[in-house]
Amino acid sequence: MQIKTITTHPYNDQNPGTSGLRKKVKVFQQPGYLENFVQAIFDSLDDLTGKILVLGGDGRYFNRPAIQVIIKMAAANGFGELIIGQGGLLSTPAASHIIRKYNAFGGLILSASHNPGGPDEDFGIKYNVSNGGPAPEKDTNAFYQRSLVIDSYKIASIEDIDLDHIGTHKIDNLSITIIDPVADYAELMQSIFDFNLLKQSISSGYITLLFDAMHAITGPYAKKIFIDILGATPDSVINAEPLEDFGGHHPDPNLAHAQELAERMFGLAPPVFGAASDGDGDRNMITGSNIFVTPSDSLAIMAANAHLIPAYAKGLRGVARSMPTSQAVDRVAAHYNIPCYETPTGWKFFGNLLDAGKITLCGEESFGTGSDHVREKDGLWAVLFWLNLIAIKRQSVTDIVNEHWQKFGRDIYCRHDYEAVEINIANSIVDHLRNQLPTLPRQTFAEYTVKYADEFSYEDSIDGSISSNQGIRIGFENGSRIIFRLSGTGTVGATLRIYLERFEADASKHNQNAQVALATLINLAEQFCEIKKRTGRTEPNVVT
Ligand code: G1P
Ligand code: ZN
Repeated sequence: MQIKTITTHPYNDQNPGTSGLRKKVKVFQQPGYLENFVQAIFDSLDDLTGKILVLGGDGRYFNRPAIQVIIKMAAANGFGELIIGQGGLLSTPAASHIIRKYNAFGGLILSASHNPGGPDEDFGIKYNVSNGGPAPEKDTNAFYQRSLVIDSYKIASIEDIDLDHIGTHKIDNLSITIIDPVADYAELMQSIFDFNLLKQSISSGYITLLFDAMHAITGPYAKKIFIDILGATPDSVINAEPLEDFGGHHPDPNLAHAQELAERMFGLAPPVFGAASDGDGDRNMITGSNIFVTPSDSLAIMAANAHLIPAYAKGLRGVARSMPTSQAVDRVAAHYNIPCYETPTGWKFFGNLLDAGKITLCGEESFGTGSDHVREKDGLWAVLFWLNLIAIKRQSVTDIVNEHWQKFGRDIYCRHDYEAVEINIANSIVDHLRNQLPTLPRQTFAEYTVKYADEFSYEDSIDGSISSNQGIRIGFENGSRIIFRLSGTGTVGATLRIYLERFEADASKHNQNAQVALATLINLAEQFCEIKKRTGRTEPNVVT
């Protein structure tokens, strides 16, 4: 094959964020922009000659042309085999599994997760390493440094590959295999959960379910698993066809964006169980008849009941949560006497703990839960986990949640997001918060006395790496917390996230509305950060 070396000039904004490089499609369409970043990744990796690369994305606008470019660049850079999902599709957790199953060197996943898609919306690309997980910070820093000085990229002169038919193409020493994106993943799920019990529970009508694929990647996965394998009725999966613009919606599984699901679950005669997943299939939202389970509670409930699931019958080695996730799972870990780790936001921080066998289950408040079965969070896995629990416990979602709160208490929790804040204002808010930190400890505000106020820094217990500036924490004597951090995944301005949490032991107060129960903390957060005062806004864009 003929290989061309194309001269390019560096872009200065290719610094990967919480989860890869995310930009507007128009940014990615600039000459050499995608090529530079891909070459910067390839240049930063140790000898990739003859190795296997997995390739796929969530099907959003620009997915297909980007895949054709990456195929040609991977060929020119010496990879020996490319494994690509049919149609250029792979959910993030399926890509993670395929990297692990086929001993690939790594994978490129094309997605901007829950961000909207289309010519004027978002695109993204991230590299996963051979354990199937997101590249750690030392790698993403290397990609960025390389991107700042890159002056050429390599690309092979080959025809576009037919992505729509399963099979293998050979070009000189390179083999390109188009695989069924769902089959390996569906098989993995069957090795974790009790599919026979699930089939019985669904066919007998004990479990009725509704899954919203939000016109994103999980449609084909959910149809295969819930309808073809488990026998759910065809109308159990809605918005199942992946669309390049997700039907014009945000493929973000929360009550605001998964509107159709929310209406059904809180309407007349709702199904027993309802769930949704995001653009690339790694997030999950769990609901039951008239109930929404906060992701932090979902993680804690999964940890408390994991021994009921076949793959976790021996119990959990340990658990981990991202720093802003509520402390509900900590209580479960203490009860079972297993370690609980607190990591910075982003799945990449769980990788070392999972690889070292220190944890089995982990999660984030941002609708992400997962286990050691892959190295990404996994939306459909979480859905199957809950279905398996309902089938075994023969309890409704509401009963499972209430039972958990009665036993462990409730960590009342919510997150407020202020999106597209002007970057200078966002930075001034963070500076203002930072300046207050030394003076806050021991001060009392209403019933809250500050115990500590700091900026979270994390030392990885496996490789010793240190990640600083991971969010501002204000913790109170009664265990309540307010956390502030700027998003690392947004593409417009800055997003300020405020996380609020208060523990309630008294079961007679468990059924309070979170916004009401957290009202004092919400006011305090404004007093500390002045987001409303400094931006003139009256309320957050999203409350979850
Ligand atoms: C957000 C979430 C974070 C998650 C990431 C990728 O990142 O908060 O938990 O890992 O998306 O899905 P953020 O925008 O807050 O940096
Ligand atoms: Zn995602």
